[in-house]
Amino acid sequence: MSAIESVLVENRVFPPSDAATRGARISGMAAYEALCKEAEKDFEGFWARLARENLDWTKPFTKTLNESSAPFYKWYEDGELNASANCLDKHIGTPVENKTAIVFEADDGSVSTVTYKDLLSRVARFANALKAQGIRKGDRVIVYMPMTIDGVVAMQACARIGATHSVVFGGFSAKALNERIIDAGAVSVITANFQMRGGKELPLKAIVDEAIGMGGCDTLRTVLVYMRTPSACNMVAGRDKTFEEVLKGQPDQCEPVSVNAEHPLFILYTSGSTGKPKGVQHSTGGYLLWASLTMQWTFDIRPEDVFWCTADIGWVTGHTYVAYGPLAVGATQVIFEGIPTYPNAGRFWQMIEKHKVTVFYTAPTAIRSLIKAAETDEKVHPKNWNLSSLRILGSVGEPINPEAWMWYHRNVGGERCPIVDTFWQTETGGHMITPLPGATPLVPGSCTLPLPGIIAAIVDESGKDLPNGSGGMLVVKRPWPSMIRTIWGDPERFKKSYFPPEMGGRIYLAGDGAVRDEQRGYFRITGRIDDVLNVSGHRLGTMEIESALVSKTDLVAEAAVVGRPDELTGEAICAFVVLKRPRPKGEEARQIASDLRNWVAKEIGPIAKPKDIRFGDNLPKTRSGKIMRRLLRSIAKGEAITQDTSTLENPAILEQLAEKN
Ligand code: WTA
Repeated sequence: MSAIESVLVENRVFPPSDAATRGARISGMAAYEALCKEAEKDFEGFWARLARENLDWTKPFTKTLNESSAPFYKWYEDGELNASANCLDKHIGTPVENKTAIVFEADDGSVSTVTYKDLLSRVARFANALKAQGIRKGDRVIVYMPMTIDGVVAMQACARIGATHSVVFGGFSAKALNERIIDAGAVSVITANFQMRGGKELPLKAIVDEAIGMGGCDTLRTVLVYMRTPSACNMVAGRDKTFEEVLKGQPDQCEPVSVNAEHPLFILYTSGSTGKPKGVQHSTGGYLLWASLTMQWTFDIRPEDVFWCTADIGWVTGHTYVAYGPLAVGATQVIFEGIPTYPNAGRFWQMIEKHKVTVFYTAPTAIRSLIKAAETDEKVHPKNWNLSSLRILGSVGEPINPEAWMWYHRNVGGERCPIVDTFWQTETGGHMITPLPGATPLVPGSCTLPLPGIIAAIVDESGKDLPNGSGGMLVVKRPWPSMIRTIWGDPERFKKSYFPPEMGGRIYLAGDGAVRDEQRGYFRITGRIDDVLNVSGHRLGTMEIESALVSKTDLVAEAAVVGRPDELTGEAICAFVVLKRPRPKGEEARQIASDLRNWVAKEIGPIAKPKDIRFGDNLPKTRSGKIMRRLLRSIAKGEAITQDTSTLENPAILEQLAEKN
């Protein structure tokens, strides 16, 4: 797209319709501004009011925010509550108790539902089973489960007894799982025999066995296995038990364990700039407040809504907007086991029609791939389904390009549904910068304005504010309740990664570049400014992939990984590799590239497979030995090298690396 076109696109503004504004939780910009003012005038009072109004406390808090050991901020530190009680018990005795909590659609299209009352019974029984396995408050439990009601039950049951869950996405490899079990010091893994995706039965338990077999999982005592399919799986006597076995005879009532507001509800591993994934630790009180509030503010959730967030519980979006948020507000939600392209690329639209979904939340990658499918096959175009139930659309995980935004707006939203382009991160716990459906005029490709109480800004390297129109680093200047508390087991890394001393050590650095437009001060995220890639909305560290490549020690001498823009996946992984043997060409190069891709899939997971692998006799380095990534990025994009290459030790290498296999 040319620069002129992109300016034109960004000038389109879509004010909220009367229908969207009417009855909205935050109705009109004046209401939004009033909340921002309230937060500005009395920051702690604002957050105290919301926490009292939105959560049930077993012991009310008297202190709202403790900044004395910043950046280790504490929220509601003397209060006590239970997250599961705030998602389930809270609704008992209200009209919500017999409402459908979850509509589950399996990969094969079969549907089952569970009411709030029944979900509470299931969670309580499972919580009792966990206790009977000796799992206690403060223990860490890995959840390696497919998208099912039982996955949510497992998370809620952990929360109920005060155990800290750490969900690992079912697409991660045995090696990745092994590292997380060890880092978290987990006592148990909750998994399934298999998962069903796209009509295929894929192993989960076998991967757990492999992960444990790699050694080091000394804290692990039990593996609990949900039999998702009738197929048998290997069971280790004394260690492995089926759900059926552990649930047998367990009562369906279980007193929720009251925990401190700062008690770690979960750890979720995500990629950073260095090789090792970070265990992002979240609190109970502040996190849950934000899950509940953003359901109300961003999705304007109403009693009659049918909410569908397509994210897997393995990602933060599946935590806040599947496992906790919708339940905290008593909403009916859809959970989907399968993939958007099975049995065909009309699956999402068909499901929206079938379940009369009103609020639909998905990722730009999914939208882009469905656009492509609809363009090649009329039969899977959304126009073939009745999508009139929809009232709000959402986007998350990566920047949504204006073209995809417009298509989503026209073909899915029928030009009537606001699109909330929600910017946030694993570390932020929930939405940070996002339009409000009943208030914010929308600009395609912009996540617009921060939520009330979120003091976001764009600054230069020293932390100085930049004027609108100039790009810089996105920061948050004041703490907020659902912020990351620490990196599990590595408080130093937490400080170093997010609170740079050059900025005073108290300002949260998001790791994204952003720019505010001059007219409205709207934020537009321009992408990561660190060594993190965003491929199909999945976060991956370049160093993580490099480490995986060089760990193939018999073959690889050196590797450098960069991202390049990709129409479908947002960014694509491009790896430059130097082998311990002469640079391969033709068929040999293709074969080795394919082997290396599979190797990375085994080390990290299929999502980390490089799309493009190039071989060189060497990598472009400065005379002091630093890899010139800037050049590699240009080569990956297929650009002519216009940068200064005078400091380059061996300029001839550039031509080699530009050659495709
Ligand atoms: C990117 C996902 C642009 C961003 C919730 C961020 C976005 C990273 C948006 C976090 C958005 C997320 N517009 N970019 N609306 N939402 N990102 O931790 O680069 O998996 O830093 O959390 O995704 O990814 P994470």
